[in-house]
Amino acid sequence: MKKSSRIPGFYKVTVDERRALVEDAAGVPSGTIAASVAGGGLDAVTADKFVENVVGTYALPYGITLNVRINDRDFLVPMVVEEPSVVAAASNASRMIRDGGGFTAEVDEPLMISQVQLFGVPDRERAKRLILEAKQELLALADVAIPGLLSRGGGTRDLEVRLIGGDDEGMVVVHFIVDCRDAMGANLVNSVAEAVADRIAALANGQVGLRILSNLCDRRCVRATVRVPIASLVTETMDGGAVADGIVNASRFAELDPYRAATHNKGIMNGIDSVVIATGNDWRAVEAGAHAYAARNGRYEPLATWRRDGEFLLGRIEVPMALGTVGGTLRVHPGARLSLALLGIEAASDLAMVAAAVGLASNLAAVRALATDGIQRGHMALHARSVAVAAGATGDFVEKVAASIVEARDITVGGARRALANLRGESLPPPASDPVPGGSAR
Ligand code: MEV
Repeated sequence: MKKSSRIPGFYKVTVDERRALVEDAAGVPSGTIAASVAGGGLDAVTADKFVENVVGTYALPYGITLNVRINDRDFLVPMVVEEPSVVAAASNASRMIRDGGGFTAEVDEPLMISQVQLFGVPDRERAKRLILEAKQELLALADVAIPGLLSRGGGTRDLEVRLIGGDDEGMVVVHFIVDCRDAMGANLVNSVAEAVADRIAALANGQVGLRILSNLCDRRCVRATVRVPIASLVTETMDGGAVADGIVNASRFAELDPYRAATHNKGIMNGIDSVVIATGNDWRAVEAGAHAYAARNGRYEPLATWRRDGEFLLGRIEVPMALGTVGGTLRVHPGARLSLALLGIEAASDLAMVAAAVGLASNLAAVRALATDGIQRGHMALHARSVAVAAGATGDFVEKVAASIVEARDITVGGARRALANLRGESLPPPASDPVPGGSAR
């Protein structure tokens, strides 16, 4: 991107003004955003080519998370999500993280696992030996199925043989490890599994079972760390040290209790899924991989953890991330293409780092809120802002009206109109009965 991902006052301006600011910062032509996501970015005729029985499309809000800096590079991060507070929370936490230099991230090679299941294998040890002896032949056979990937520098890298269950079932599972480069890779690894299965079954003297990718792509992980100055965590009522200790306490709770870990990880997936959806990727695959990885030690655990180091709070996330920047939805969905253009990303590895980083930021925002005022206060403050905007407030009036209706405990459009008129010194409209339901924590 051309400029910094830090855009002060972004939330206060109109949608059109935000589009102009983002286009300018990202260095994309003026009008790109409106052209790409108008009406949700997808018409019914195009949608009809995606899935079956189409009768329309279904739009979701498309927001931008600011302040994200990873490995000294700034990113404006598009997020598609229906839940209030997620984008603001990720932006706020990324700003605190930025105070400590931003995220440091690294990503594994884009290795996916293709599973071929055999059953009824009479001598599993012998089968394993024969399959391993035929490794080079099998890898070459697998590569024949994916010529396009080969030409892009990817291909089958290895295979391993697993004996699962008892001898009576005769089950053997062969994993082909496929380097998918910038593709998510589901179709590629499925093709590999189907191409090699018969030959493997012949070697093992067994029958072919399933031939499909594994969504537990634990060879394709991202790790991101942050070092947040505790001074940046301070709230109106708590000093930074107390907030940091509260966050560590929240982390320990998730480490010790799967009931809490599930919610902790849900907060992480708020950020990750939003990026995954905005970039046209398969969020169910990412969800499946994340939760399976969270349970890899035989107990469901948090994907991100927090510790204190003197005047700093240290955070770490490790999560599998099967994302693509080529193929699939990306080719056809203008919104997905827009997201990559705003991010300034071509490599799937960069996208994986962004998604994990935003997941860590989302987690920080959630546990900071939970360890301090509780989640509802922030939700209500944000909700009050959107009510203020709905009542016609713009610029600095947004914050003033929001503060006034929160203070008056009257978060309604009518209340906001009255607060706005009051602030402008105008005569007040009569009270109206138009309550707007509050934003809820999920
Ligand atoms: C709500 O979408 C997510 C949280 O429940 C996450 C958490 O509890 O850590 C706030």
